[in-house]
Amino acid sequence: MSSTPVGIHDISFATTSLVLDLGVIATRMGIDPQKYYSGIGQVEMSVPARDEDIVTLAANAALPIVERHGRDRIRTVIVATETGIDQSKAAAVYVHRLLGLGENCRAVEFKQACYSATAALQFAAAIVQRDPQQQVLVVATDVARYDLQSSGEPTQGAGAAAMLVAADPAIIALEPVTGLYTEDIMDFWRPNHRDTALVDGKTSIRAYLHAIEHAWQDAQRQGAPGFEQIDYFCYHQPFTVMAVKAHRHLVKIAAAQTSSAQVDAVLEPSLIYNRQVGNSYTASMYIALVSLLDNVAQLDGKRIAFLSYGSGCVAEIFTGVVQPGYASHLRTAAHAAALQGRTAIDDADYLARHAQTQPTDAGAHPTPHETTGHFRYAGLSGNKRLYEATPARSDRAS
Ligand code: COA
Repeated sequence: MSSTPVGIHDISFATTSLVLDLGVIATRMGIDPQKYYSGIGQVEMSVPARDEDIVTLAANAALPIVERHGRDRIRTVIVATETGIDQSKAAAVYVHRLLGLGENCRAVEFKQACYSATAALQFAAAIVQRDPQQQVLVVATDVARYDLQSSGEPTQGAGAAAMLVAADPAIIALEPVTGLYTEDIMDFWRPNHRDTALVDGKTSIRAYLHAIEHAWQDAQRQGAPGFEQIDYFCYHQPFTVMAVKAHRHLVKIAAAQTSSAQVDAVLEPSLIYNRQVGNSYTASMYIALVSLLDNVAQLDGKRIAFLSYGSGCVAEIFTGVVQPGYASHLRTAAHAAALQGRTAIDDADYLARHAQTQPTDAGAHPTPHETTGHFRYAGLSGNKRLYEATPARSDRAS
């Protein structure tokens, strides 16, 4: 096998045009906002505009990547999501068109709750390992939706992370050893007839910790770097305190010599964006990576462990090394603009949006133009979803 390093050559994230402060939900529910702000570690959540969904989020995240690197070497695009918009057609096919990728390309969708982007990344790395001339576009994209008044309501959110996987990567070289764990368990799921997920929150926390423990032990048996050889840890974050709980658990099982202050210091930079975006399901661990890269200086040569968990459940732990000179490839200003550019909505607006369901007839159902992004979901007509490019709001007369 070729020993060419393979990994993340570029990474970019996008979120929605709207945002809700979680204090608004706390006030309506009559509970202390600190339960959300510090108890689960969530301050805000991104809310999709009526013409935003997983496809527009994915295309918005990936556009800067194809604009920087061109389209010629991309022969595979994978969209990882658990917010499927069609039971048959892959969201990747819509994204492929919106991005103007070439016709000689495979486009496919991966699903396994919040884990699927990691499966997509490993699949992509294998393709590039086989032919280092090729590049693979992997986009993790999700809109987390729970019922109103459920315990999951404050852990909603939406976002997408796009990665270009290539040989001789500019940002992170993936290391080959991974730890794996699969178990059939009902901690979180969304049956076909529902547009909100079902979750047994306490079971999901226990299942997450159990799966990470077993994947870690497998990684160690497979020869992965030990705890002391890892500089930073990026966890799946359904809410950011989950990463803290998981890391404290890992410290115990790895019998690592570290204080809780060190745990907090090593995790904090990876939590900053997800506190504001909310849960973005399979995108969350990769948004955590973007947050780490954007908020810590001089990561050159540092090893990051990735602890990926998807309810149901599958876990995978792998590592990567930050490449020298990576900092000049980051998109820190664009990411800050995406977060700061969101418009705050109030509870009445949020409730109206939450109540909205997709039409089920074959009529024409155009959506109003609300998004500030480059692509919009224009509506449904004849049971077909319509997507179009749109000038970003900054380019439009207001
Ligand atoms: N100030 C500070 N902290 C507070 C507080 C306050 N006023 N009130 C409560 N808290 C703390 C609690 O002590 C608890 O902390 P702990 O977990 O360290 O004990 C935390 O806030 C949450 O409180 P809890 O009563 O457990 O909340 P909940 O029953 O509403 O459930 C979740 C919280 C996260 C389980 C729930 O939001 C959920 O199920 N979310 C979905 C999770 C998910 O997506 N899982 C699937 C993927 S892994």
